[in-house]
This record gives sequence, structure tokens and C-alpha cells, in this order.
Amino acid sequence: MGGIAAGPATVSLPMTTRALGEIGQGESLPDHLPKSPIPLFRAWFDDAHRRRWQPNPNAMTLATIDPDGRPSARVVLCKHLHDDLGCLVFFTNYNGRKGRALQANPRAAAVFHWDDVDRQIRVEGPVTVSPPAESDDYFHSRRWESRLGAWASDQSEPIASREALLNKVRHTAKQLGIDLAAAVSGQPIEIDRPPHWGGFRLWFESVELWCNGVGRIHDRARWTRTLTKSGDTYSGGPWSATRLQP
Ligand SMILES: Cc1cc2nc3c(=O)[nH]c(=O)nc-3n(C[C@H](O)[C@H](O)[C@H](O)COP(=O)(O)O)c2cc1C
Repeated sequence: MGGIAAGPATVSLPMTTRALGEIGQGESLPDHLPKSPIPLFRAWFDDAHRRRWQPNPNAMTLATIDPDGRPSARVVLCKHLHDDLGCLVFFTNYNGRKGRALQANPRAAAVFHWDDVDRQIRVEGPVTVSPPAESDDYFHSRRWESRLGAWASDQSEPIASREALLNKVRHTAKQLGIDLAAAVSGQPIEIDRPPHWGGFRLWFESVELWCNGVGRIHDRARWTRTLTKSGDTYSGGPWSATRLQP
């Protein structure tokens, strides 16, 4: 007979709550899982910002699949959580490694980890390019240095040295007609969004909420749904929720 062998019949260890002691204690998800994970996602996201124990509470690890099928992961910032649409938004260079990966395989997985409150959220789903207005609005809210950097950097491409990179930034400033002395002194600087830079929307097809429990008896639940594409957006069918073993 395969599987795990049963212990001696004489040994009985009733797993009452008392016998479990502290095991499993800690934060837990509601007994009756809510229909949608998005209100809890929003509450945890806002909570992480309120506490601000982590300098970047909106940081998430984003995994993509390269055109040759290899996975790659890096940290990006989640700049919008669109509860109503059911997606989140991050901004990046469309021609960098992740940008090219997402053009070849427009699906991604992301994970937030808030260490101070022992919570993790995992998201998976298809990815679309943000509408231009969403990218423009965010781009124009950035400091001029970041806007210049978006023009100057060919993200993920090699460069000979740090000095060569700084020269490239100076050269780009000149090309864009930016007076660096005026910029540094705080004068407003107009820089349009480069066409190779903008947002991606990651649509919620699967969302998992995780909270830490004593003895590694964590509480996990995953919500999944079917998404239907219409133009550049997705709409979701009803969620199906499942509690998972840790
Ligand atoms: C805290 C943190 C936040 C970051 N935020 C972003 C971001 O929002 N967008 C971005 O393109 N890169 C961001 N980066 C840099 C990426 O991790 C990565 O180095 C860069 O995007 C290039 O990745 P790629 O070569 O896989 O495209 C961030 C890095 C850290 C550590």
C-alpha cells in the first residue's frame, strides 16, 4: 500500500484545540470567505500604507515569462489599485526586459509581502497596456529627474560605466532642451512622456490572501474567476473562493 504508513494503533493523540496549544493562532481570514477578495485586498493595501512600516508598502515582486519561456522576477511599485475594474497598475519601460516579456506573454504574477503584519497577497492574471491618459497622468506627477530618467535609460540594456550612464542623462537633457541649472533651482520643467514608457494593468484572475499562523499553520484562501476580454479591458465573472492548506 502506498502513501504514508499509519502509526501504531495504541498511540492516540487527539488534536483538540487544547493539544494544539498556540498552533494556528494569529490573524485569520473570515470563516465564511467573502464573495470577492477585492475589499480585503484594499483593506490590507491601505493598512500597509497607514502603518508605513515599510518605506515602499506598494512594492510588489512581479514575475513574467521571457520570450524564450524563462521566468524572471523583479520589484516594481503598484501605483493604482483599481477596485472597480479589478486590476492593479505599475509603470515601467515598455522596451526593457519585463516590457518585452509582457509583449510576448501578456500574463504576470505579483506578490506583496507586508512583513510587519505577517500578510502576503498573490495576484495572477493577464496584462494589458494602460490607456495613454493613465500613463500621462502618472508621468506628469513624477519629479523632473524621474521624467528625464525615463527618456535617458534604455532599461535593461548594458552600458560601459556609471560615468557613461550619467553622460547619457546629460546628453538627453540637452536634446530635450532642459536647462539643468534651472531645473535644480526648482523651476518647473516640461517633459512629455516618452512613447516607450507607461503603465501596465494586471487584471485579477486569481487572488490569494495569506496570513501567518503559529506553527506555520497559516491561513490561506484563493479566489479565482474567469475573465472576458473586451478591447483593452477585462471583465470578471463571479469569484469562486477556496481555503487552502498552508
Ligand atoms: C523598491 C523598488 C521599486 C521599484 N519600482 C520600479 C517600478 O515601479 N518600475 C520599474 O520599471 N522598475 C522599478 N524598480 C526596478 C526594478 O526592480 C528593475 O530593476 C527594473 O524595472 C528592470 O527590470 P527588468 O530588466 O526585468 O525589466 C524598482 C526596484 C525597487 C527595489
